[in-house]
Amino acid sequence: MSTESSLPQHIAIIMDGNGRWAKKRFLPRTVGHVKGAAGVRRIVKACADRDIRYLTLFAFSTENWRRPPEEVSTLMDLFVQYLQKEMADMSSEGVRLRVIGDRSAFPADLQARIAAAEQATAHNTTLHLTVAANYGGQWDILQATRAWQTANPGCTLDDLHEADLAAHLSTADLPDPDLLIRTGGESRISNFLLWQCAYTELYFVDDYWPDFDEASLVKALTWFASRVRRFGRTDEQVAPAPTAAT
Ligand code: IPE
Ligand code: IPE
Ligand code: MG
Repeated sequence: MSTESSLPQHIAIIMDGNGRWAKKRFLPRTVGHVKGAAGVRRIVKACADRDIRYLTLFAFSTENWRRPPEEVSTLMDLFVQYLQKEMADMSSEGVRLRVIGDRSAFPADLQARIAAAEQATAHNTTLHLTVAANYGGQWDILQATRAWQTANPGCTLDDLHEADLAAHLSTADLPDPDLLIRTGGESRISNFLLWQCAYTELYFVDDYWPDFDEASLVKALTWFASRVRRFGRTDEQVAPAPTAAT
């Protein structure tokens, strides 16, 4: 197997398990979130070092508003702090930040910081870091359908094809993820990139997100390299052509 094909171009991560990480240590859940936020930098670097071009992180789902208000507000504060502290360094390393999700629900200062960080890093190309915040896969499909209708007022749904919808998703500029990692031991998607993960390899690992380090990433990459991606074809169709016997 060639090195190119065995390395994912785009990794998506559901960073789950911060609360249980803290609970195990008799600490408040918020400490888990602080620790989890610190882990983001590590994984961004580990991906950049391996020439992985796209990394998409699930930071806050459309359903996470159901959590206690203090926890929601800690998560918002951490996001602001992250943008304040880490973006300059990451930008100098060539990271381009995009945020997907309905940001209109965020406090005004957070919205402003997001816009500023996106603008400041727009020219970077080394690693495309996408943070999904107030994001839901169902929201994305619905907003894409509406956006398509707005852009094509004379059309009806009969004119809507898969590629049209994909072009209006919030990830329209990104390739679909090759590998989805979920930490924290659950085997579910929790409304993440529903459309985009149609053919993504799904890797569920028990480690809580604050414990997921470079070695854990390497394990996930090794697992990914062993997968045969058929996209509906047969094994024979996707097997590398045999080399001629000499
Ligand atoms: C993931 O960790 C962080 C967010 C969802 C924002 P959790 O907070 O869900 O941690 P657990 O699943 O309760 O352990
Ligand atoms: C998924 O984790 C969302 C994020 C990691 C941001 P949750 O902790 O919200 O998922 P469920 O509720 O256990 O499915
Ligand atoms: Mg959770």
